[in-house]
Amino acid sequence: MEPEQVLDKILEVKDLKIYYRSIYGDYKSVDGVSLEVVRDEVFSIAGESGCGKSTLVDGMLRLVKTPGYIPSGKVIFEGVDLLKLPEKELNRIRWTKLAYVPQGAMNSLNPFLKVKEQMMDAILDHSDMKKKEAMQLIMQLLQEVGLSTKVAEMYPHELSGGMKQRVIIAMAIALKPTLIIADEPTTALDVVVQKGILQLLRTLKDKYGMSIVLVSHSMAAHAQVGDRVAVMYAGKVVEVSPVYELFEDPLHPYSKGLIAAVPSLEKKIIKGIPGLAPSPLDWPKGCRFHPRCPFVMNICREIEPPVKSIQQGRFVACHLYGD
Ligand SMILES: Nc1ncnc2c1ncn2[C@@H]1O[C@H](COP(=O)(O)OP(=O)(O)O)[C@@H](O)[C@H]1O
Ligand SMILES: [Mg+2]
Repeated sequence: MEPEQVLDKILEVKDLKIYYRSIYGDYKSVDGVSLEVVRDEVFSIAGESGCGKSTLVDGMLRLVKTPGYIPSGKVIFEGVDLLKLPEKELNRIRWTKLAYVPQGAMNSLNPFLKVKEQMMDAILDHSDMKKKEAMQLIMQLLQEVGLSTKVAEMYPHELSGGMKQRVIIAMAIALKPTLIIADEPTTALDVVVQKGILQLLRTLKDKYGMSIVLVSHSMAAHAQVGDRVAVMYAGKVVEVSPVYELFEDPLHPYSKGLIAAVPSLEKKIIKGIPGLAPSPLDWPKGCRFHPRCPFVMNICREIEPPVKSIQQGRFVACHLYGD
């Protein structure tokens, strides 16, 4: 058996680049990202706003729209390169195997349709189910996400933010996908509601044996439900670590900064990361974090650090580590 089959990778992204064309040149928003999601895990994608998280997941689902384009890279889902698949086959995989909860999805529910009607449309569009069977499924799904079946008869404006997000999650799990990609699913919600939604995702993952890619700028969200975390900075992944190790002993100086900025009861002073994130039009030479890095060395200004495997399961792109 080949060594890579042991881990049961469900999604592999290989050196993916996603650029946006503009009159000033290309915005290199995702600039050579590689990562692997294994079966039955919550794979967290962290990093400040603008680092390329949403662009990356659009690329994973081949949903990048003009002026965006994918100059190179691979997205292999269950052994198939999604970037090479005919649109028809890709549509068959979306929803049934690969579900997507876009950023702000809960605000794009159709205001004129009852919950049951929008859920019905989504299910009938993507399966061979009959209406009666689909309606039974809708009732079951609503309960599964912690809502009353009465919600079926309600319109989106009658629901709170947390309830809307639960409806969105119910739609995402309707056809029992193997992977859900959720982009900032809790960002617009109150802290307590956020926790409930994240817990729900974790419970559903365990119940159905799905994997989840959870995109969030909130480190607290990743601490709550992540298994492994990829930290993105300036269109690249700078560290991948199991969540516990990342919080105990972050390797990359940017990860250290992100974690120092997480509020907690013990911390009297919360330190932000000084300096501004650079522009995708003109990334800094060498390590992209070097202008903000408290540990900067000469080499960092010149040579881009490759991603290195440091310990079992931990990867970092930083000249402080390795040879
Ligand atoms: N349609 C677009 N056209 C041009 N630039 C874009 C577009 N969408 C995103 N970008 C740029 O790509 C970068 C990454 O954005 P995004 O993927 O939304 O980051 P995140 O989700 O991490 O906040 C940003 O600098 C943003 O300005
Ligand atoms: Mg985003």
